[in-house]
Amino acid sequence: MSRASLDKQPREVAAMFDGVARPYDRTNTIPSFGQDRSWRKAVRRALALQPGERCLDLAAGTGVSTAELARSGAYLVGLDISLGMLQVGHRTRPAVRLLAGDGLALPFADASFDAVTISFGLRNIVDTRAALAEMARVTRPGGRLVVSEFSAPVQPAFRRVYLEYLMRALPAVARRVSSNPEAYVYLAESIRAWPDQPALAAIIGESGWTQVGWRNLTGGIVALHRAVRRSPSAEQI
Ligand SMILES: C[S@@+](CC[C@H](N)C(=O)[O-])C[C@H]1O[C@@H](n2cnc3c(N)ncnc32)[C@H](O)[C@@H]1O
Repeated sequence: MSRASLDKQPREVAAMFDGVARPYDRTNTIPSFGQDRSWRKAVRRALALQPGERCLDLAAGTGVSTAELARSGAYLVGLDISLGMLQVGHRTRPAVRLLAGDGLALPFADASFDAVTISFGLRNIVDTRAALAEMARVTRPGGRLVVSEFSAPVQPAFRRVYLEYLMRALPAVARRVSSNPEAYVYLAESIRAWPDQPALAAIIGESGWTQVGWRNLTGGIVALHRAVRRSPSAEQI
């Protein structure tokens, strides 16, 4: 597979998601084996948001991740770069606050949030470290981060079967059910190229966050990485 399609610019990423926006909520379950609802609940539990807290859901897309988090009673803002995804979200989830913006230049003041989170979006942002640093900037010192992302299954035999599914079966299924199968080829490639659990933890630790840890879901198909916003004084040491 060519790596070229992974070198997408923000405008190209936005255009790709504009193209899958309408069927997104329906086809979401294909790459996740129908597990996406339980993964979203796990993110809500990991964040442990309290009513009155402020939380940013970056790369919120149609707001499906934001809506689950809003059940906590906290103040949620979802932000995404794809107007197509946001339009679907505004229509299908009018109660969810969704804004347009780029994760690499967030339209918020420093330390505006108690928590920030990103579900299945960090892999899509062209500069992972810059996105994590920008998320740290808008989080108050001591505030929490939860990253939910496809990861590396830990059991070797399961990992081989899963990679086979990703590279062969998923694009084939997508050709039947999706008007934009190219997006699923990109999905499969980008999951394969993504850092595994310890590698992503190291990147998070180098991008303004401390106390980094993770938990595997569904045998490591997904990992939830958690971290705490480093205090600015610690950065000077
Ligand atoms: C797979 S969707 C995830 C949507 C949602 N969080 C969920 O859990 O289903 C990834 C999203 O990342 C968004 N995205 C990619 N690059 C971005 C950027 N630079 N800033 C904000 N959003 C971005 C895409 O537009 C897309 O909606």
